[in-house]
Amino acid sequence: MSESRVPRPRRFLVCEPRHFAVQYAINPWMRPDTPVDVELALAQWQALISAYRAHGHTVDSVEPVAGLPDMVFAANCALVLEGRVFGSSFHAPERRPESTAYETWFKTAGFDVYRPESVCEGEGDLVPTRRFVLAGTGFRTTPEAHREVQEFFGVPVIGLRLVDPHFYHLDTALFVLDDDNIAYYPEAFSPGSREVLRRLFPDAVLATREDALAFGLNSVSDGRHVFIAPRAEALADQLVTHGYVPVPVDLSEFHKAGGGIKCCTQEIRS
Ligand code: ARG
Repeated sequence: MSESRVPRPRRFLVCEPRHFAVQYAINPWMRPDTPVDVELALAQWQALISAYRAHGHTVDSVEPVAGLPDMVFAANCALVLEGRVFGSSFHAPERRPESTAYETWFKTAGFDVYRPESVCEGEGDLVPTRRFVLAGTGFRTTPEAHREVQEFFGVPVIGLRLVDPHFYHLDTALFVLDDDNIAYYPEAFSPGSREVLRRLFPDAVLATREDALAFGLNSVSDGRHVFIAPRAEALADQLVTHGYVPVPVDLSEFHKAGGGIKCCTQEIRS
């Protein structure tokens, strides 16, 4: 069955964790002044980049800025669809300068960048599927930003309410497997949003709280290979049953900041 899953090559934007640290707390995972092993973080991050390249994906890199310890979480900088860049506007003042740093990269690479008026944390809360954009709210990105996204792209935006602070970004509770399906942790969502997901994706892969706490839903899929946290074992087993090929990559150092594989990965869709 796994032979039938066809990968599609992606273009990713990432940021080396040279200045990665936990210096402030803006989600329940973060304990200020938790020691971070930067050498280990760099090695784990490098393993992710190598895994992407080994599977045929293109990886571009933005220069990290000293004093922006969360800049490694490239997913929060934008949503890019058909070469159009919807930039970011961060909730936490500590992260706000990241928007300009990424904007500079996009402009140098030849993209125009739209700067949202409302709080919007890029692919952290905006997850595009084939026909619409799933959009999280509750902790960071606002419903006003969802409306801006819909107006900018002309793509329907489906708002979903997150209710558990451990899963403060949509990409910590849900990821896209391929054109037709997703995986998610239902309890991260309000009852109404859960029902929306059930109607839209009746065959979705449902993850346990354990999988979600292991950052298993902060995964990146190319349609066949799923780059996934190794401790999300039950989820990985389910993915195999569904014909996907898990590629375990351990980003445990980044979990201290509340991030994982997807958080470190911005997709540039042309
Ligand atoms: N410490 C960062 C924050 O709380 C982690 C961001 C993780 N990124 C993500 N796409 N979920 O903002």
